[in-house]
Parts: sequence; C-alpha cells; structure tokens
Amino acid sequence: MTAERRPLIAGNWKMNGLRAAKSELRTVAAGLAGLSAETMICPPFTLIGAFAADVAGTQLMIGGQDCHPAESGAHTGDISAEMLRDAGAVAVILGHSERRIDHQEGDAIVKAKVKAAWRAGLLPVVCVGETLVERDAGEAAAVVTRQVRQSVPDGATAVNLVVAYEPIWAIGTGRTPTTDDVAEVHGAIRHILGERFGAEANGIRILYGGSVKPDNAAALLATADVDGALVGGASLKAADFLAIARAVG
Ligand code: 13P
Repeated sequence: MTAERRPLIAGNWKMNGLRAAKSELRTVAAGLAGLSAETMICPPFTLIGAFAADVAGTQLMIGGQDCHPAESGAHTGDISAEMLRDAGAVAVILGHSERRIDHQEGDAIVKAKVKAAWRAGLLPVVCVGETLVERDAGEAAAVVTRQVRQSVPDGATAVNLVVAYEPIWAIGTGRTPTTDDVAEVHGAIRHILGERFGAEANGIRILYGGSVKPDNAAALLATADVDGALVGGASLKAADFLAIARAVG
C-alpha cells in the first residue's frame, strides 16, 4: 500500500441478511473509530435503505452488489444505479464471479454497468479472477488482465474505480493463493491499468478477495499492490470484519 491509496475493507454480504442483521451493522459502525482504512458493507438490496440511514454520520459506507446498465425501464426484477444511489449507497460491486456465473454476465455487460455506476455517481468495485483450471494452466495473470481490459471502460481514474481480484477457487473455500501469487496478479492488474490510464493507475485501489479471515488478513494486506480486501463470509460477523479492518497496518 502506498500513502496515496487509502486502504478499503469492503464486506460483501451476498444473499445474506434480514432486518435483524442491523445489530451486526451497528456493532461494526461503532467499532471503526481510529481505523486508518475506509470501510464499507454491501448488503442485499432490501437492506440498503435502512442500513444507509442507520450508518449516516459514521465512517461506514454502504454499497450495492450489482446494478442494471439502464437508468430505468421495463426490466423486471432489476435495480438501477440511480436507485442504489437514491437508497443511500455510494458504491456498487460489479462483475462478481457469482454474477458472471449465475447470470452469465460477460465483460461487455460489466463494462456497461460500470458506466451506469459513473452516471449515477457511484464508485464501482469491478471484480476479476481466474478459475482453478486457468490458475493450474498458468493463465491467472493473463485472464485477469483480459478481464480488466474488457470490463473497465475508458475514463477510469484514481477516484472513480476500485478493482477487486477474487480468484474463483478461493471464494468461500478457505483456500487462498500465496502472497507471492497475489502480488503477481495485483502487479499485472496495476500494469494493465497503467497502460490504459497512465499515472492515474498509481492511485487506483486493487482489493484482494477470497477467504479473507482475521488470521490471514494481515499477511494479505501487507502484500505488494494490495490496497484492501473484499470480504464475503467473514463480513457477516461484526467481530471478524472489524478484526480484518484492524489488520490494515
Ligand atoms: P469469501 O470471503 O466468503 O471467500 O467471499 C469472497 C467474495 O466473494 C467477496 O466478494
């Protein structure tokens, strides 16, 4: 991490959380004082409005987990970036592998969603990551480079883009890449961002995600070009999420 990139610890609650989970959110918000990292929770759509109201005035930000490219229209079941913003979100996770797999989202649709996030004034967190087959074939950096090239539109800057590297085989499995492997892929992401966006790339934060827990967070967060974490399962427990946020050096 460099001084110009403030670490971001973001929790992706995925399809978890009922209204009663507010107590967990409050515990997180109350525990953030004095932390150097920025922190964000991305709950399911149904909780965004209530959570945003609840954390108003605290350091905790609220984000969405997906949005539709269009501002409004006949798209049953979808949510626009403007709706997220209106509900109090300040960011949105886009192109998560669970969206890419469950909803057949390719890089082109992810790119359109990033533009929608920008249109609505949301910070997109664009997820990329290789499968185990691709990793075993030695293609991790190449796959991720291609995803960044094709999912991120022109016009990215240090303040309007966050990238998250989430190896698919590390999500929810308890397995993580070595810190050398993480450094290699994050370096490749920094490189392609530099090719496309010049000096802005030095300020774009690249998060690591995939089985981040309190006991491995410090090592992962101390790795070159790792500017924070995107946390799934461990973000559902306030104590674990706070422990990860505290692991930022
Ligand atoms: P886990 O932390 O549960 O492995 O999930 C990672 C993830 O997918 C965050 O977006």
